Amino acid sequence: MNSFNNVSDSDIQFFQQLLNERCSISHEDLKKYSHDETEDLEVLPQVVLKPNSPEEVSQILSYCNNRNICVTPSGARTGLSGGAIPLHGGVAMSMEKFDKILHIDEDNHQVTTESGVITQVLQEAVKEKGLFYPPDPASKGSCFIGGNVSENSGGPKAVKYGVTNEYVLNLEVVLPNGDIIWTGANVLKNATGYSLTQLMVGSEGTLGVITKIVLKLIPHPTHDLLMLVPFYSATEACKAVAAIFKAGITPSGLEFMERDALTWTQRFLNDSSIHVAENHAAHLLIEVDGFDPEKLMNELAQITEVLENFETDEMLFAESQAQKDTLWKLRRSVGEAVKANSIYKEEDTVVPRYELPKLLEHVKRIGNEYGFTSVCYGHAGDGNLHINIIKGEMSDEKWDNELSTAIRELFTEVVKLGGTLSGEHGIGLVQKQYMDIPFSETSLQLMRGIKNVFDPKGILNPGKVF
Ligand code: LAC
Ligand code: ZN
Repeated sequence: MNSFNNVSDSDIQFFQQLLNERCSISHEDLKKYSHDETEDLEVLPQVVLKPNSPEEVSQILSYCNNRNICVTPSGARTGLSGGAIPLHGGVAMSMEKFDKILHIDEDNHQVTTESGVITQVLQEAVKEKGLFYPPDPASKGSCFIGGNVSENSGGPKAVKYGVTNEYVLNLEVVLPNGDIIWTGANVLKNATGYSLTQLMVGSEGTLGVITKIVLKLIPHPTHDLLMLVPFYSATEACKAVAAIFKAGITPSGLEFMERDALTWTQRFLNDSSIHVAENHAAHLLIEVDGFDPEKLMNELAQITEVLENFETDEMLFAESQAQKDTLWKLRRSVGEAVKANSIYKEEDTVVPRYELPKLLEHVKRIGNEYGFTSVCYGHAGDGNLHINIIKGEMSDEKWDNELSTAIRELFTEVVKLGGTLSGEHGIGLVQKQYMDIPFSETSLQLMRGIKNVFDPKGILNPGKVF
């Protein structure tokens, strides 16, 4: 275990001289930066710093590195694995001042942005030029693009367009010793040495602080169609997922929601726009997008044909933009609705998509064995299932003492199915105890070795990933 120095009065003086009012020790700020969206976890930092240039980040990091003070980079704190929790106190380094989109390069279909820009703001800015940045986590209205890079975020569009790493071309990064580097080049192909760019993506703020990002863009699709399909059996809904792809269609969204996921969200949003019948066990929300409306109608017809092989109730085809917005809002709010409903523990398992029905069966079987219920939803087209384990009637003692054994059993099955622990939420704090399931000790040693090269004193986001 690392032991770090406490932030002293003279450290605060140094930070104040550097940043003026962008250095805060107010209780309100410490509290704000003590947590992300991960369950109910919080640890207070000792000081919150809000640099606004790579040079300031560099000065802070080199100072903290010399003084052995730990630093936890902090984006919009929407993460779901505790990556932004300042576990050892020290400095919470907020990236909120890095909020400028620097250059939309229409000639090359690229954007250069600072890392504290809200993802949806970036998406809307490039859309004005007819361009598309697809990764769209549920929190896109508040999360930062730098957080998305750090967690390798996904979202519903990933099934057709891929996750964040497929769009990151080049990064400006400040290393723990204060050095400022660019990781690559602004090019679509790059066979020049090890990819430091891709190493940074998904590194959860443990290797360096990302200050600028160059992203690839694509032409923005002009049309989309959306349908909601009720199933009488959740397993059947999961089976239909691979069947759609096997018919040669790649939807731009293929989301699964178990009954409770949808009904809890309706209640949470006070929304009664959709009738969920007693015998609806799960729904698939299916979107296709592109440039040719006729082609999209054909794709929807083909999907409907595939679904005729499954027992479904009447399908809903969204007729207006407003209806599409309502359906997506319901889907995007499931996480919040579950959080509001009960004490829970969220898992972010991912398996090859054909194995999804087996994954769901394992979840329910293990739940029966250990006495918990679960609400599952997620990016079915990616085989990415968000499993919300609900405390419900489970005793505090069982919850505290047996849950990790149950999760271990679940992850072991996931890995046997060819899957892994997290598809898009990261390992952070809450999944690190399970890293021995997908990785051998040799692989973990390689990862620790990489961490050590970047951050020999271990000051940057300590206590995360391993
Ligand atoms: C979602 C978040 C929780 O898919 O990843 O809603
Ligand atoms: Zn998700």
